[in-house]
Amino acid sequence: MKINHSSLNQAIYEMINLPENASVVDLGCRNAGYLNGIIEKFPGKVVKAVGVDITDRNFNVIPYSQPVELQIMNCAEKFDLGDHSFDLVLAKDLLECITDKMTFVKEINRILKPGGMVICVNTDFDSTIYNGENKDLITKVIHAYAITKQGWMDDLDSWMGRRTYSVFQKSGFFESSIFVHSVVETEYKEGKFGYEFSKNIGWLVEENTGAITKKEYDEFINDLIKADKTGNYLYSKPYYIYKGIKIK
Ligand SMILES: C[S@@+](CC[C@H](N)C(=O)[O-])C[C@H]1O[C@@H](n2cnc3c(N)ncnc32)[C@H](O)[C@@H]1O
Repeated sequence: MKINHSSLNQAIYEMINLPENASVVDLGCRNAGYLNGIIEKFPGKVVKAVGVDITDRNFNVIPYSQPVELQIMNCAEKFDLGDHSFDLVLAKDLLECITDKMTFVKEINRILKPGGMVICVNTDFDSTIYNGENKDLITKVIHAYAITKQGWMDDLDSWMGRRTYSVFQKSGFFESSIFVHSVVETEYKEGKFGYEFSKNIGWLVEENTGAITKKEYDEFINDLIKADKTGNYLYSKPYYIYKGIKIK
């Protein structure tokens, strides 16, 4: 299934500059999606594209080939990657799960070449908006998802987007800038970001977290379906795209 959030991907790719013969790493990659996207966006420029993730569960969901290589690695520990070996480090939707954020930032600095670039993209889950009639319920469901830690998370910060800049800036390693891109959708259907996110929220019920009841979840979904049928559906989520250039 293809998730349509290409406006976000375009915004991310537009922040990136690559030299010739570039080496790229995607931390918490899940699969080869972003590495394939970068190779396509910068034809002929990427000679090494490494994706690392704590699990290889999703490595084969998207086909990949040379120069992409995927490997298991825990980014909450010292990276199993060489000093000064990458021109670009990408980390999307990972930082909120890492407890010791300063060690993570130091590791990124260590593996980057002088003048290299880090792009760190995070959302504020708590700032997600769905339009519907029962605003109290929608707010409750979104907040419950935002603050409920899943098994694979070391940590959870539902305000990570707005906090990203300061995490990197205070390290003193980077020239920093931040850009906010809101994903906005008006259709509730399979493949859309808002649709898939609403299905992910079902995890709260499936895993008996107690954060919301099945009745509340079903009402939430029905509210979104009704909003879509009446032309009132809206999904919006802000992504903070941090760009840091390693100070030489
Ligand atoms: C929300 S997904 C984001 C995936 C991908 N970056 C994207 O934006 O589509 C978070 C990913 O980080 C991985 N992850 C979580 N904790 C990790 C860790 N300590 N080290 C490496 N990967 C981790 C998860 O397995 C998952 O694939």
